[in-house]
Amino acid sequence: PVLVVDFGAQYAQLIARRVREASVYSEIVPHTISAEEVAAKNPVGIILSGGPSSVYAEAAPSLDSGILDLGVPTLGICYGFQVMATQLGGEVAKTGRREYGSTAVKLEGGESSLLDGQPDEQTVWMSHGDSVARAPEGFTVLATTEDTPVAAFQNTERALYGVQWHPEVLHSEHGQALLEGFLHRAAGIPSDWTPASVIDEQVARIREQIGDAKVICGLSGGVDSAVAAALVYKAVGDQLTCVFVDHGLLRQDERRQVEEDFVDAIGVRLVTVDAREQFLTALAGITDPEEKRKTIGREFIRSFEQAEVDLIKEAQESGERIRFLVQGTLYPDVVESGGGTGTANIKSHHNVGGLPEDMQFELVEPLRTLFKDEVRAVGRELGVPEPIVARQPFPGPGLGIRIIGEVTQERLDLLREADAIVRQELTAAGLDTEIWQCPVVLLADVRSVGVQGDGRTYGHPIVLRPVSSEDAMTADWTRLPYDLLARISNRITNEVDDVNRVVLDVTSKPPGTIEWE
Ligand code: XMP
Repeated sequence: PVLVVDFGAQYAQLIARRVREASVYSEIVPHTISAEEVAAKNPVGIILSGGPSSVYAEAAPSLDSGILDLGVPTLGICYGFQVMATQLGGEVAKTGRREYGSTAVKLEGGESSLLDGQPDEQTVWMSHGDSVARAPEGFTVLATTEDTPVAAFQNTERALYGVQWHPEVLHSEHGQALLEGFLHRAAGIPSDWTPASVIDEQVARIREQIGDAKVICGLSGGVDSAVAAALVYKAVGDQLTCVFVDHGLLRQDERRQVEEDFVDAIGVRLVTVDAREQFLTALAGITDPEEKRKTIGREFIRSFEQAEVDLIKEAQESGERIRFLVQGTLYPDVVESGGGTGTANIKSHHNVGGLPEDMQFELVEPLRTLFKDEVRAVGRELGVPEPIVARQPFPGPGLGIRIIGEVTQERLDLLREADAIVRQELTAAGLDTEIWQCPVVLLADVRSVGVQGDGRTYGHPIVLRPVSSEDAMTADWTRLPYDLLARISNRITNEVDDVNRVVLDVTSKPPGTIEWE
């Protein structure tokens, strides 16, 4: 792999993604990693990330200096560049001037795998206080800015490179070209990390892990569980059974997409649990958002585990054992929970009667190394239907937390209809990839006066909550075109009974969360 050494902040994940966009496999490691640990991973390249600190700060994150002596081609970025300069005897100075945001750099014009073929003057994204005042011995300066005498350097003999700016951000004009120059030209790494290669590798791993045992996978209708299931199916075929709980809080067409389209495309065996009545009964009378979420969560686990128990018994009767459970864990979750090598993942069960207390599953997590966009690419390669592969985020508790007030069958039907209209219109307008998601919310306990035909109405409002976001941690409301909003509003008020008003949520996050409950 290419190892991305994480010096903090959010840069490392972005770098790792950019490397993979160059079809090179990358892994994020903490800056506390030792030279021996690095060597043990057999890296073909190393990238030192940026970070929020100053190399002079007390407790500034440091790097085992042995890492730069391993002979592995290494690129330092921003803070990583300064760490490299400091460790190799260069000089990092507090200039007293911060360069922040768009900055013009001038290339010196010498030969460089990083910068060959790029314009001599370009705009890049910088964010730093200190800067490298003198390059270490043996290094050539490749670029400068008005405030920084050394904005990039290289030592081709030792295969060490560094840039003060952030090539991984889109605002750096030739950033991706620079990264690819490092990967392909400086380090000579081929582009062989592709969806097809990921599938081959994962299929082999899954086969090794599962052997001839039985495995189950819960499907949610979302992209992660679908792609995880498709991968496991490709690896072990009918040893896999999928379980899909229809809690009645799904959107229009979602059950059919899983039961028919997905099953037809992939061929997997599927058990659907129809738990709609059970959920409605459990939710009756509940209006408090937290209580609603807890109830939905509890009932969901109950139905899923009951299905597991049935399958386990069925297997036992034919003398087999279900040992594995598939989970769609993604790489960002793995990194954020401290990395780890992915062992010791065991889910224990202690619930419904009739099974040994210590019933345990080992987890199969075939997406652990992947970012979301890679999961989608792998899914497409496996033939997972487009509506599932391209699905925007949708909360586990479903429409249940988009009805403000008690959840009833009638209200669910109404909201489902409104939501379907919004999704149709957003898709028709070509905005699916531009917006992050657009919750549609029913204010079930609010009524307002309206007029329709020649009569007075007294119906409910529907709220549109279109948001733009990168990670759902923060979001802004999306400025949808007025004529699109008008079309959505017309259709909802005309087509959905009992709705006589459509309103737009123009709150960013924070302070408003994306969902209303
Ligand atoms: P909030 O409302 O917290 O939502 O701004 C952030 C993102 O998370 C989604 N969301 C959930 N996803 N289970 C999920 O799987 C949940 O209980 C849940 N609640 C919110 C929400 O749709 C948004 O993308």
